[in-house]
Amino acid sequence: MAASGSKNAALPILFATLLTPGRVKLGRVPELKDIATTLQLLAGVGAKVSRNAGFVEIDIPRLTSTEAPYDLVRTMRASILMLGPLLAREKAAKVSLPGGCAIGSRPVDIHLSALEKMGASLRLEQGYVVGECAKGLRGAEIPFRFPSVGATEQILMAATLAEGKTVIRNAAREPEIVNLADFLRSMGGKIEGDGGTDIEIEGVAKLSGSTFDVMFDRIEAATLLLAGPITGGSAKVTGMDAGALTSFLDLLKKAGIKVNVGKDWVECSAAQNPQGVEFVTEPYPGYPTDIQAQMMAYLAAVGGVSKVQETIFENRFMHVPELVRMGADIRIEGGMAVVHGKQGCYQGATVMATDLRASASLVLAGLAAQGTTRVRRIYHLDRGYEHLETKLNKLGAAIVRAPE
Ligand code: EPZ
Repeated sequence: MAASGSKNAALPILFATLLTPGRVKLGRVPELKDIATTLQLLAGVGAKVSRNAGFVEIDIPRLTSTEAPYDLVRTMRASILMLGPLLAREKAAKVSLPGGCAIGSRPVDIHLSALEKMGASLRLEQGYVVGECAKGLRGAEIPFRFPSVGATEQILMAATLAEGKTVIRNAAREPEIVNLADFLRSMGGKIEGDGGTDIEIEGVAKLSGSTFDVMFDRIEAATLLLAGPITGGSAKVTGMDAGALTSFLDLLKKAGIKVNVGKDWVECSAAQNPQGVEFVTEPYPGYPTDIQAQMMAYLAAVGGVSKVQETIFENRFMHVPELVRMGADIRIEGGMAVVHGKQGCYQGATVMATDLRASASLVLAGLAAQGTTRVRRIYHLDRGYEHLETKLNKLGAAIVRAPE
């Protein structure tokens, strides 16, 4: 099964095209709802967008607007990433503040205070952040109180066109950050240190066009890999780099899953002697929050006691009551989920998807369940998994997309 291009790498890369008047051709952009929303946001400020044969081409010779409207932003929080690029290129931006989110309150204060440090004046007006920087953005030393993925992307983009040098300290180190930095470099950006905690960006006056491939989706790959062991079988994912999933694959090995790694593929087979494991979600290179729910679905369906702690989002255990309805023994005790795994625990049920990765955990549990599972509100899945049912069916699942 081939991994798709990464949603969380493609989104900032698409927003980064706002920085250049040159034509950009991007490969491996997944066909997802969030990508369609992003292309709509770009078209709204004057981008000419075309999509064919796996490529997205974007041309923004000049911007016709600097606004990201509420109706689009409310459907996708990552829209806040328009702020930095618009300020950097047009010295003005009006971006709706994203509203609440099912997995946590998710403020954007780190983004805003960093842009202010770079000389932007920001004010809140009727739910919009309105920003100006008449003299343009200038480089600054910016220590983050937390290595936010989005804020690191925001400042990487803004600083690429700012005057002088920007240093981000305590930056996020996710592979998607490195992919964005690679893209910015391919357009002429001067960036060093991405992948580490300190990133240095020397601003340039203008960027060029580029042809660039988005990296593989490590969260989708991990979800597909779990589909094998949770059903007592195996799954192989190609077109991926195991190095971007080290903490996840290490945990699988501890849980007894057989992990085979090739140059650009990984194969996972069911554990002969499953073990309970303990893990804590952390910023990269720690265990990713985006594979917490799927791993929990797996651990509930094999032997052993496991403990799962979520530290990135305050409300990311919403899959637990739904997994329990399917037969899992999971209790939440003081911010920790304690899983008493039992083979064959799942029975089919009608369950409700609450967010993207929670939905994926319900699909995984459904694969292992006796009887039919109906997952409702699958629009969450369509935001982040490309052709999930087709891919899982190729691995031997029997999934149909039914009208609600
Ligand atoms: C990115 O979100 C991903 N989204 C998320 O993926 C992922 O879960 C998350 O990083 C963590 O890995 C995209 O890449 C589009 P953060 P982001 O800023 O950038 C707090 C998925 O399922 N924070 O690193 O929003 C925040 O509230 C999604 O694909 C502030 O307090 O993540 C959260 O608790 C969901 N102030 C924590 O930091 C800020 O200004 C991590 O957020 C920014 C963040």
